[in-house]
Amino acid sequence: MVRSPRLIEVDRQEPAAIRAELSGELAASPAVISPKYFYDALGSRLFAAITELPEYYPTRTEAAIFARHVEAIAAGLPSGLTLVDLGAGNCEKAARLLVPFAVRTYVAVDISAAFLRDSLERLQQQHPDIDMLGVGTDFSHRLSLPGEIGDGPRLLFYPGSSIGNFTPAQALDFLRQLQRAAQGGSLLIGVDLLKPVEVLEAAYDDSLGVTAAFNRNLLRHINRLIGSDFALADWRHLALFNGAQSRIEMHLEAVRAVSVRWPGGERAFAAGERMHTENSYKWRPEDFAALLGKAGFSAIQRWTDERGWFAVFLAQAGEGR
Ligand code: AVI
Repeated sequence: MVRSPRLIEVDRQEPAAIRAELSGELAASPAVISPKYFYDALGSRLFAAITELPEYYPTRTEAAIFARHVEAIAAGLPSGLTLVDLGAGNCEKAARLLVPFAVRTYVAVDISAAFLRDSLERLQQQHPDIDMLGVGTDFSHRLSLPGEIGDGPRLLFYPGSSIGNFTPAQALDFLRQLQRAAQGGSLLIGVDLLKPVEVLEAAYDDSLGVTAAFNRNLLRHINRLIGSDFALADWRHLALFNGAQSRIEMHLEAVRAVSVRWPGGERAFAAGERMHTENSYKWRPEDFAALLGKAGFSAIQRWTDERGWFAVFLAQAGEGR
């Protein structure tokens, strides 16, 4: 009989803490909502749909880089690897690397261990000899990996340019945490690069309106989490490239004056007032390599596609720091 993957939750955020965090974010001027609240069950499905849109190039460009360079990447890795997949979701990206990287232990990390159960069980059937573990934790604040992940050489895997959803200062702080968590192992990370504005804005404002639905679904999720009364018809999706900050910004803009209430709070928005819902930074490859160096990584290698739209970096964590 095939063994079952182990599932554990670490530092689970309590509902009261979520309510306090969201109330604070809504009360701020301008309101800035953490992008982690995009990902309720429907939001995760909408994000999966985004990755299939013709305009949204990052997922398929990154996959093509991995497909083309997997052997060169594997050549830089030790045997008996523990692959720690940060933001694993449906585990699809890591699944393609388990055999070429000769992974001994696979650790899928996401906001909830329950989200990981089905994907991990399926993967365990296909790879009965790999030890599998699902860890539910919100690592957007602080990365804490449980002792259960074992002591094999670690490869931290952070694909999809999720690092782009952090400001450069937050990204540096997070990379420093990864450098420590790698315990002398390495980091494999996908990073979206700067490119023409038209390509970027189309990727975040697609013609089918899936990204708009993803952005506006945030309001349904917030209504469920804090009991607020956001009406979706009052809000429209905006995606703009901010050249000075080298980032796509997503906002929700009030189409008329609205007043939103929730137990313990209330907020009036003028017509045209915006809530900032996401940043997606677009890096120059040399700047991201420098950031990795600043965070304590060395022996930095990188692979890109022919258009230079996306990069995958492999970097060594070195000992402690
Ligand atoms: C998850 N993250 C890397 C995506 C991005 O491109 O910043 C989230 C996303 N937002 C809108 N489309 C995709």
